[in-house]
Order: sequence, then C-alpha cells, then structure tokens
Amino acid sequence: MRAACCEAQVLRHTAIQPDIRLLEVLWPDPAHAPHAGQFFTLRSWGAGEGPFLSRPISVHKWESETLTVSFLYQLVGGEGTRKLAALQPGDRLQLTGPMGNGFDLPALAAQYRRIALVGGGIGTAPMYQTARELAALGIRPDVFFGFRDQPYCMEPYRALAGVVKVSTDSGRVGFHGFVTQLYDPADYDLVLICGPTPMMRNAARLCAEKGTPCLVSLEKKMACGIGACLGCTIETAAGAKSVCKDGPVFWGTEVFGWQT
Ligand code: FES
Repeated sequence: MRAACCEAQVLRHTAIQPDIRLLEVLWPDPAHAPHAGQFFTLRSWGAGEGPFLSRPISVHKWESETLTVSFLYQLVGGEGTRKLAALQPGDRLQLTGPMGNGFDLPALAAQYRRIALVGGGIGTAPMYQTARELAALGIRPDVFFGFRDQPYCMEPYRALAGVVKVSTDSGRVGFHGFVTQLYDPADYDLVLICGPTPMMRNAARLCAEKGTPCLVSLEKKMACGIGACLGCTIETAAGAKSVCKDGPVFWGTEVFGWQT
C-alpha cells in the first residue's frame, strides 16, 4: 500500500518526562491505517523552512474508532523535534505514511506463540501497538524494557502482557543492569526487539546463541522515506537494503549476522 500524505490535526500533546512527549493526532485517512512497527514522517513547518527533512517517528498507538494515531518521541535536540514539541492542540501538521514493513503480526502469531517484546529507551515506543495487536490475536507477550533512569508509559502493558519487567542503568527502578539480563531467549519462540543499536546487537546475539529467532526494528536518518534516495541503506546478509522501504523490521540474523 502506498503511503498517504495528509494534513492532520493535533488532539493532545503531553509532556511525559522533560525530554519525552506523547503526540496524539487525528489521521483523516482510514484507508491508510497503520499497523505495528510502521512509521510516519511528520512535518510541522513549511516547505521553504528548515529543517529540510521531515521527522520519521514510529506509531505508538493506533485507534481505528477515533482515527487517532499517537507518537511517543524524544526531544533529541534537533530543530525538527524542537518544532514538533511546540505543537498545541488544534494545530495542524503534515503526516506522510504509514511507511515501512512493520511487524507482520498475523503471520508471526500463526507460527510463534511465546513472544517476548524487548525495548530500550524510546525504542519501546512501537512496542505498545505491537502488544495491542498481539493481544487482539490472542497472544499475551512478555515485556522486558530497559531505561536509563526513570521508566515511562509502562502501565498500559499490564492489561495486555504476561510478565512485565523493567531494568534501569541507574538502578532507580526495577533491575539494576541490562534489559538482556531480564529474560532467557530460550523461553520464547520469537523475540521482537527495538532500541539502541548496541542493545539490539547484543539481544540478537543472545537470541542466536539460544536458537530463538528475533526481529529487530532499526532506526536510521531518512530523507525520501520511500527507498528512492539510498539515504538509509544498510548492508544485510541479502545485500544492500533500505531501512525505510525494506524495513525498518528485519530478522536479527539478516542485519547482525549471527545464525540461529
Ligand atoms: Fe530515502 Fe530510505 S530515506 S531510501
């Protein structure tokens, strides 16, 4: 399905932590409904203004009844997120999407039943829609998230997930250590991972050691978002691929090279 480009209206914009925001917008095109793991590019500034590139952000939640799409994002200091952070309810912005392959959860759920969701920091954002869709397919995933210091947006998982465990680098909340110390990949048929690259690499290696397949959702700076500019190309076991069009979801072995 081709991505749509629409003007969307801000419904709510909430500061979750000093650098974490939840942006909820009305997406007026139900024919282009997103699924878990897909993303939109967001732009709240004019074509002649900077920054040049729209900001790609994964779908945190999609409500088909209210046509509301939510984005959980981090203020990373760039001009784009700074302009997005200024949006108020009622403001309009340009959304293009949904983009990317996302997680093909109906197909995965038909093959794998014991599923773990592993996230790190703002990489936890796409896991909420993932947990919701898995729950709708009759699977309660186990959730393992790691944060630097203070977890956020964890509570809704308790209604959808089996086990919910948290680690923090600081030890302030939950287990003091790495998220990969919270679970054993051998206990699962499939692990879905999103977070900082070193964490994903380590999590994929541990899955490979236990013979458990994993899918990783990659993040990369993007320009066109449709596979045309080669700006987000990565090397995989099957040759060069674009994160925006061929991903952002790949098998762990495809991008990190370990065999299961
Ligand atoms: Fe242009 Fe991915 S952003 S190919």
